[in-house]
Amino acid sequence: MTDAAGAAEPTPLEERLINLIKLKGPITVADYMADALGHPHDGYYMSQTPIGANGDFITAPEISQTFGELIGLWLVEAWRAMGSPDDFNLIELGPGRGVLMEDILRAARLRPEFIRGAHLWLLETSGRLRVEQQKRLRGAGLDPMWADEFADIPPAPSLIVANEFFDCLPIHQYQRVKTSWRERLVGLNNDETGLDFVLGKTPPPPALNLPATSASKEGDIVEISFAARDFTAGLSEQLTEHGGQALIIDYGHMQSGMGETLQAVRAHKFWPPLASPGRADVTAHVDFEALGATAIDHGAVAHGPVSQGEFLERLGLNIRVEMLCKGKTAEQAKTIRAGAYRIASPDQMGEIFKVMCVCAPSLPAPSGFEDI
Ligand SMILES: C[S@@+](CC[C@H](N)C(=O)[O-])C[C@H]1O[C@@H](n2cnc3c(N)ncnc32)[C@H](O)[C@@H]1O
Repeated sequence: MTDAAGAAEPTPLEERLINLIKLKGPITVADYMADALGHPHDGYYMSQTPIGANGDFITAPEISQTFGELIGLWLVEAWRAMGSPDDFNLIELGPGRGVLMEDILRAARLRPEFIRGAHLWLLETSGRLRVEQQKRLRGAGLDPMWADEFADIPPAPSLIVANEFFDCLPIHQYQRVKTSWRERLVGLNNDETGLDFVLGKTPPPPALNLPATSASKEGDIVEISFAARDFTAGLSEQLTEHGGQALIIDYGHMQSGMGETLQAVRAHKFWPPLASPGRADVTAHVDFEALGATAIDHGAVAHGPVSQGEFLERLGLNIRVEMLCKGKTAEQAKTIRAGAYRIASPDQMGEIFKVMCVCAPSLPAPSGFEDI
C-alpha cells in the first residue's frame, strides 16, 4: 500500500514489529517470517488471498490438473507397497485452496479400497483457506479433518503430501563478518520508521558448524531452518514407527550451501522481504540435503531429491497429457500442453522445484525414485 508520494504506509504488523523492536531489540529472521506469515491476526495467510490470478502466486496444481492426478496415482501405488492397509491417514501439509487434494482424490477413486481406508487430514494454519478447502472438497469422496499441528494427527500408517509447504517454514540467517559469523537479524532503519537488517553482536554457537573462515568470505550468508528440520524429524519418527511415506515437493537446492534465498512475492512479482509484512508471501528455498539428513537421523529413509520435471516425466506426464487432449478442441489441447510445459520444463518450474520422498525403512524405493 503506498501513499500519494509513493512511500509505503506501514502495515499493522509492521507497526507492531517496530514497537516490539524499539522495546526489546532486533528479532531473528525466523521470528520475522513466522509473524509475517502466521501472526494470528495480521499474518499473510490469515489476512490475504494468496493463491490464484487475483492472489500473489500460483502453484503447480493450480496450473495443471495433471500434477495432482499423477500424485494421486503415485499415492495409490505407495499405499499398495505398504500392503494396502484398511485404515491409514492421508495427510496434506498446507493444502492451499484444496486443488491438489481434489485432483489427488479424483485419480485415487480408481481404487475404491484406497478411498474407503483413508482418513483425510489437512494441516492448515489459515482459517480463510480452511473454508476454501471445505467448499472445494465437498463431494470429493472423503470428509476432511483439520489439524493445527502435525502432532495433533492420531498416529497411524500415513501417506503425506506437501507441495510448497516447507518453503513457508522460518529460516535463520547467518552472515560472515571479518573473522567470524553473526546472526542476521531484523531491526530498525536509521529513522526508526521501518524495518532493516542488522547483525547480532555475538558469534552464533559453534554447534551450528558454520563454514570455516577459510571456506567463506565476508558478506556470505548461510540459512538454516530449524523449523523445517524439527518438522522433518517429527514426520520421520512417525513414519518409522507406524509406516508410510511422505512426498515433499518444493523449490530449493539439492545440496546445503551458502547464499541468500529469503524472498517475498506480491501480486505475482518479487517484493522486498521486509516491506509490508503481512501483505506479501515471505518464503525461502528448501535445503533438501538438510531434510534428507534429518530424516535419516530419525530412522527413516530419504529418496531423492529429483527435479520436479524428471519426477513427473517418470510418472507418465506425457501420456497423461495426450489422454487429456483426446477429443478436445485445438485451443483446449494447447492450454493443457502449456500447463504441463510450465510445471515440468527445466526453464519453468521443472528444475528449480525438487521432489523428495521420506519413507519408513521397510519400504522399497517408491516409483519415480527407483534408481536415484
Ligand atoms: C504456498 S501455499 C501451498 C498450497 C498448496 N499446497 C498448493 O500446492 O497449491 C502454503 C500453504 O501452507 C499453509 N501453511 C503455511 N505455513 C503453515 C504452517 N506453519 N502450518 C500449517 N499450514 C501452513 C498455507 O496456509 C497454505 O495453505
